[in-house]
Amino acid sequence: MNELDGSWILVTGASAGIGQACARRFAESGASLILWARRLDRLESLADELRDGCGVEVVTRQVDVRDRRLVSREALSLIEAGRVPDVILNNAGLASGFDPIQEGDYEDWDRMIDTNVKGLLNVTRELLPHMVSRGTGHVVNIGSTAGHQVYPKGNVYNASKFAVKALTEGINLDVAGTRVRVSSVDPGFVRTEFSRVRFHGDDERAEGVYRGFDPLTAQDVADCVHFVVTRPPHVNVFDMVLLPTAQRNVYVLDRRDPT
Ligand SMILES: NC(=O)c1ccc[n+]([C@@H]2O[C@H](COP(=O)([O-])OP(=O)(O)OC[C@H]3O[C@@H](n4cnc5c(N)ncnc54)[C@H](OP(=O)(O)O)[C@@H]3O)[C@@H](O)[C@H]2O)c1
Repeated sequence: MNELDGSWILVTGASAGIGQACARRFAESGASLILWARRLDRLESLADELRDGCGVEVVTRQVDVRDRRLVSREALSLIEAGRVPDVILNNAGLASGFDPIQEGDYEDWDRMIDTNVKGLLNVTRELLPHMVSRGTGHVVNIGSTAGHQVYPKGNVYNASKFAVKALTEGINLDVAGTRVRVSSVDPGFVRTEFSRVRFHGDDERAEGVYRGFDPLTAQDVADCVHFVVTRPPHVNVFDMVLLPTAQRNVYVLDRRDPT
């Protein structure tokens, strides 16, 4: 069913993992897409796949969400083209490093705060006013269970995702009285490039994160995001939390081999 026919959706961080899976899920439902990430080659091959496979319009742009001027310029070009998105998926994000705070690396901290918090703000600040003045729109933030419960060595990543949770709640308050919706989708363990990035390219360590249990797939998260954006206009999913069945909270994870 083409539930998203005629809508434009902006996905940040569409070159991998959850963002890429969401882009595919949206395109299958007929949405036209604006795809942002730093790795343009990956965006372009995804765009080719979606244009051929789903017959939707896809615009790709190399955008680092930390670059406020660039975000502003790209947002302006969307507005001028009459493409204020119907949905913004603030997905671009990362964990960088896994150290106790007393041994933390300033560059890792900047990378997480600048991407997960300030990047989300940059994109939202440039486009939300146009949703508010049009009277409709939906901002969906990818948070995390890391934004509900802290864990050892999670420190700054946890703080960034607690900030995303606070922003989802805060933006909801600030757009009260309009029909703009603001939602958060907060997954637990998802098998993507996330752990590889966190461990600075150490594939073996990254694979160890998912050993002995079935983590969520990016597609599982995309199904939830799709559900959130296809509710009727009077329904605002405030916060959807999803976990692998083996994970009951941040600490309780059953690592017996799946049968
Ligand atoms: N995987 C998990 O277990 C998990 C759990 C809960 C929440 N999350 C959240 O889910 C979101 C997506 O992560 P993922 O698991 O899909 O990881 P991933 O496979 O590493 O994908 C991350 C995406 O974010 C993009 N990105 C990173 N920094 C960016 C920047 N400065 N500007 C623009 N794009 C940027 C990357 O694209 P480029 O490198 O091409 O720019 C990539 O497309 C993140 O917000 C993460 O915190 C993940």
